[in-house]
Amino acid sequence: MKTIILNGSPKGKSKKSNSQIFAEKFIEKMENPCEIKCIANNSSEELAHYIKDYDTIIFILPLYIHAMPGIVMKFIEELEPATYEGKHIGFIVQAGFIETAQHKYLERYFEELARQLNYGYLGTVVKGEAAGIYMYPQMFKKVLKLISNLGVAFEKTHAFDKEIVERLARPYELSKLKLIILRLINKVGLGNIGWHKMLRKNNSMDKRLDRPFL
Ligand SMILES: Cc1cc2nc3c(=O)[nH]c(=O)nc-3n(C[C@H](O)[C@H](O)[C@H](O)COP(=O)(O)O)c2cc1C
Repeated sequence: MKTIILNGSPKGKSKKSNSQIFAEKFIEKMENPCEIKCIANNSSEELAHYIKDYDTIIFILPLYIHAMPGIVMKFIEELEPATYEGKHIGFIVQAGFIETAQHKYLERYFEELARQLNYGYLGTVVKGEAAGIYMYPQMFKKVLKLISNLGVAFEKTHAFDKEIVERLARPYELSKLKLIILRLINKVGLGNIGWHKMLRKNNSMDKRLDRPFL
């Protein structure tokens, strides 16, 4: 089975792309690591042609505005239905917000896409709270290990390991207690520390409450 990984982040092959970090971790401990290509660094037409030689495609992408990045959509439109049985497609989606409930619409879309393309659907792995990985990788050691284990298991079984998938998908929704704690953190301003630091660095602090479309 020949598998290719496609990084769907608009950042492409950048050290600041969490999708790229996920992709590299996924293949890190494989005996025969799969090839990784970035949608952002290739023409959609050429890449769609290139992957025809592969039996399995795994997209690793971020969630942007509760959906897939536009470049992934554009690329998907270049794909043609498989002409023979045995092709597979799977997705790993990582995002900033904690709750993975927000991924459910994209998951339904991907399942239907696989059906329409006549590919076997491997599933959609989802991970929230991943935005900080490229900045603080040492704080995400456990998550990155799970991704690496997911890759090892995939190489052996050609499937996403159920237990790892379940662990990555937690929490689906925040508990009431966690919501109360988060609201408190927000109220005292602790939730904004990192965000405000970034705004100051970009000289945008005074524009943070602008509402240009009103
Ligand atoms: C324009 C934009 C939109 C985003 N929208 C969402 C979103 O709707 N939900 C979410 O959980 N995270 C959202 N994020 C956070 C990204 O999913 C997160 O930072 C991810 O790790 C980025 O992956 P990448 O570095 O591979 O691009 C957004 C980030 C950007 C830049």
